[in-house]
Amino acid sequence: MNSEKIIKDIEQICQEGGKFIRENFNKITDSDIIVKEKNSLVSYVDQEAEIMITSKLSTLLPEAGFLTEEGTVKNSDKSFRWIVDPLDGTTNFIAGIPHFSISIALEENSDILLGAVYNVMTDDFYHAIKGKGAFVNGNAIKVSETERLDNAIIATGFPYDKSRISESLQKILLHYVTKSRALRRLGSAALDLCFTAQGTFDLYYETTLNPWDIAAGILIVEEAGGKVNDFNGNRDYLSNGEVIAAGMGMNNEVKWIIDNWLQK
Ligand code: IPD
Ligand code: CA
Ligand code: CA
Repeated sequence: MNSEKIIKDIEQICQEGGKFIRENFNKITDSDIIVKEKNSLVSYVDQEAEIMITSKLSTLLPEAGFLTEEGTVKNSDKSFRWIVDPLDGTTNFIAGIPHFSISIALEENSDILLGAVYNVMTDDFYHAIKGKGAFVNGNAIKVSETERLDNAIIATGFPYDKSRISESLQKILLHYVTKSRALRRLGSAALDLCFTAQGTFDLYYETTLNPWDIAAGILIVEEAGGKVNDFNGNRDYLSNGEVIAAGMGMNNEVKWIIDNWLQK
């Protein structure tokens, strides 16, 4: 498989999907909004973008199956599988906050081979091919080396289902609100991972995520020299939806989160 060529094609697909998303930005009316579950919204833009993106991906690699957020193509378990979020950051998109992305990963037998995340409003294209480094717009990126928490920028996100904001999650939040330089909640997990990969964020953590939010971004962080764990210190993030992605100097903080995470 020519991964470099596939990435070029994915970039093209993201630009086309991104154009459609941008054209619809600030055009969503109340009647376009579908409530998937409390606080989790979606519109025709997510669904149509997914159809556009997946139809192009299937011509790129006809043997691959799909795992997608909107389920517009049948989810399937083939040895190759595209994992796609056509619009990561829908709450931002619907509210008119210009920060959202397209996330595409290619998996072979549970191994992520390549990942791409497109920042729709800035036109930045992040990608990684396993073993070949991480890039934004073709330029190599790497994670931060910040060691001191009081110099660190931490990013997070919160569950849509507020009953899942457990006491230990609140404790972790308070730790970073009071001890880091700044805490951010930008609203696109895929971009949170890319910002960690390029060293903008020193550490990013979140729970209750789905594979399409994180599959591409995790590879991008790892290829940028970062460490990614779940909240138990394992690598089961795609199945349990827990992610701690960190720069090289943040080992103590990764350990601190794992030690203080009580919700199994
Ligand atoms: C969401 C975003 C958000 C994260 C949520 C995700 P969506 O994805 O990534 O940052 O906090 O957990 O569900 O719903 O906008 O595709
Ligand atoms: Ca998402
Ligand atoms: Ca989405």
